[in-house]
Amino acid sequence: MNAIVKVPDSERYARCVQTSKRVRWDIEEDVIRGRRFDAAHKFLPDGLSLTAAFTTLSADEKRFVSQIQGRTYANIFGLVERFINAKVLELSHDHWLGDQVALEALVRFSDEELKHQALFRRIDAMVGDVLPDGYRFDVDPNAVARAVLGKRTWAVLALTLDIELFTQLHYRQSIEPDTELSDLFKDVFLYHWKEESQHAILDELEWSRHDAGLTPEERDRAVDEFIELVAAVDGILQAQAKADAGYFAAKCGRVVDQAETQTIEAAFLKAYRWQYIHSGAQHPHFGKVLSSLITENQGQRIQAALATLQ
Ligand SMILES: [Fe+2]
Ligand SMILES: [Fe+2]
Repeated sequence: MNAIVKVPDSERYARCVQTSKRVRWDIEEDVIRGRRFDAAHKFLPDGLSLTAAFTTLSADEKRFVSQIQGRTYANIFGLVERFINAKVLELSHDHWLGDQVALEALVRFSDEELKHQALFRRIDAMVGDVLPDGYRFDVDPNAVARAVLGKRTWAVLALTLDIELFTQLHYRQSIEPDTELSDLFKDVFLYHWKEESQHAILDELEWSRHDAGLTPEERDRAVDEFIELVAAVDGILQAQAKADAGYFAAKCGRVVDQAETQTIEAAFLKAYRWQYIHSGAQHPHFGKVLSSLITENQGQRIQAALATLQ
């Protein structure tokens, strides 16, 4: 007898609503609780910040790198949540006059992403209170969202599921087990993870639902647009790696020559590509869902594009 019983989609939307109600949290009362950051602690764990790749730095300098990367980590999530939320609101249109539970699930999803953006703006300001001035994150979330939303829904949902799955993986594999991290930083991502788990289920439901209405030609074009989106993400990462390496060199308290700054910039980029591109691309569930929707040739095109980002 087959023990695996497929849960109907309507039931999966209903479960997301139930869990969303159960785990719901407040930024100040549950996450921040009157605390401040302390620059004596690491923010991002070694498994994400790849501090081992920063071979010229001392232990204290590596901690500073983890704090810079932690601030950028919060800002990148705040950035992508702008387009994710807009896409979710757009998709909710399909449920307005239909399954009201599915509609509620997407409305809650949207409400949570608005709250997460507020949380990450708060975190950016709070980290700014304890680190030296001069940090820059000059990416406009509205301009990025406009560009992303210009691509096909299939491509945007592929990127969104990827992001929402790697968020969970980062928390479970790297953030949660690291005993040297700032408690406050850890809590930010614990609470974020609690709400992201439902989002990834909804992304998958919406992606499959949308995919079912596409022709093979439309899907093929969407695969190209997904590759274009990943390349655009990489462009943002390259610029931020440069900005963060420059900030580190200016504020670490010693003279860092140009050659070392370049080495540091390369290490930042390696860490950012791991965080935002490769850890998600290697996520087993993402691979499973993606390969169930595309042909072998399309999968090879995606792999070839990813291989250029090393
Ligand atoms: Fe979020
Ligand atoms: Fe999310």
